[in-house]
Amino acid sequence: MTRPKVVERIAELRSLLDEARARNRRIGFVPTMGFLHEGHASLMRRAREENDIVLVSIFVNPLQFGPSEDFDAYPRDLEKDLDLCEAADVDLVFHPPVEEMYREPTTLTVTVGAIGDILEGKTRPGHFDGVATVVTKLFNIAGACRAYFGEKDAQQLVVIRRLARQLDFPVEVIGCPTVREADGLAMSSRNTYLNGEDRVAAAVLKRALDEGVRLIGAGHGSADAISQAMARVIGEEPLAKLDYTACVDPDTLAEPAEVGGPVLLAVAAWVGNARLIDNVTVSPAPDAGARTGTPKAGASIRKG
Ligand code: PAJ
Repeated sequence: MTRPKVVERIAELRSLLDEARARNRRIGFVPTMGFLHEGHASLMRRAREENDIVLVSIFVNPLQFGPSEDFDAYPRDLEKDLDLCEAADVDLVFHPPVEEMYREPTTLTVTVGAIGDILEGKTRPGHFDGVATVVTKLFNIAGACRAYFGEKDAQQLVVIRRLARQLDFPVEVIGCPTVREADGLAMSSRNTYLNGEDRVAAAVLKRALDEGVRLIGAGHGSADAISQAMARVIGEEPLAKLDYTACVDPDTLAEPAEVGGPVLLAVAAWVGNARLIDNVTVSPAPDAGARTGTPKAGASIRKG
C-alpha cells in the first residue's frame, strides 16, 4: 500500500479531481472530522469497491459546534488517521487548515429548516446548518462523485440526502451501516472521552434500542410507548443521563401515531463527558398482532 497524497489547498484538490474525471475515473468521497475508526474505515472500503479514486476529507468543522461544545477538545491525530487511510487504500486525503475552508467571515450559510430543530437539533441548535454548510462547500470542491455517510448519524444522513436533492449537487449520497464494538456500542471518535466505568455504561444506548426492537417485534404499535420504554432502559443506568429517545419515520423524522411501517429508533445520552447517539431502523412484522390483537414476534432490523 502507498501513503495517500495529502492535499491542503482547494485549488489543488479541484485540479487533481478534474484531471481524474477527464480520464473517466469515478470518485468516491468520504467526508470526516478525523480521529478515524473502523466505522470510517467501512465507508472507505465501500468507496474503494465502487470507485476508481477514493478521497477522504479530514476537517473538524467549527461551524457545526455550539459555543459550549467540544470543538477545541475534539480529538485529532493526523498521523494515525493517515495510517488508517493507507490501510483502506485511500488515494487522496483533503486536510485543509480552517483558514483555507473559511477564507473570510462566513456571512452566507445553508439553512436546513425545521428538520434541524428536532431530535439532535433541539439540543444542538444550528448544528445541522453548520453541517449542511460545510458539506455544501465539500461537495462544491469535490465535484461529481459518490459520497458515503454513516447511518450512525441518521438525522445527518436525512439532511444530506435532502441537501443533495434539493440543491442539485451532482453527488450520489450513499448510506452505510453502523459499525459497533463487541458490546454493541456504536463506534465514534467521541468514545475516546469514556473512561473505564463510563465505557461499560455506554453500552446502555444499544440496550435501549434493543428493547425498542423487541417491543416492535412483539407487536407493540404505540411510538410514544416504545420511546418511553427505551427511556426507562437508559434511566436504569446511573452513569447515563438521558437527552432523548424517539420512534419516528425514517425519512420525515416525525413520530407516527401507530407504528405501521419502518421506524427509526433513536437515542441520545450523556455518559461521563461524552454525548453519545445511536439508532436502528426496524420494520414491524407484516401482520404483527393485526388480526387477533395478539402481539406477534418478529421485527426485522433493516439497518443501523
Ligand atoms: P464524523 O463524525 O467524523 O463522521 C464521518 C462519517 O463517518 C459520517 O458519515 C458518520 O456517520 C460516519 N460514521 C461515524 N461513526 C460510524 C460508525 N460507527 N459506523 C459507520 N459510520 C460511522 O459526521 C461527520 O464527521 C461530520 O458531521 C461531517 C459529515 C464530516 C461534516 O463535518
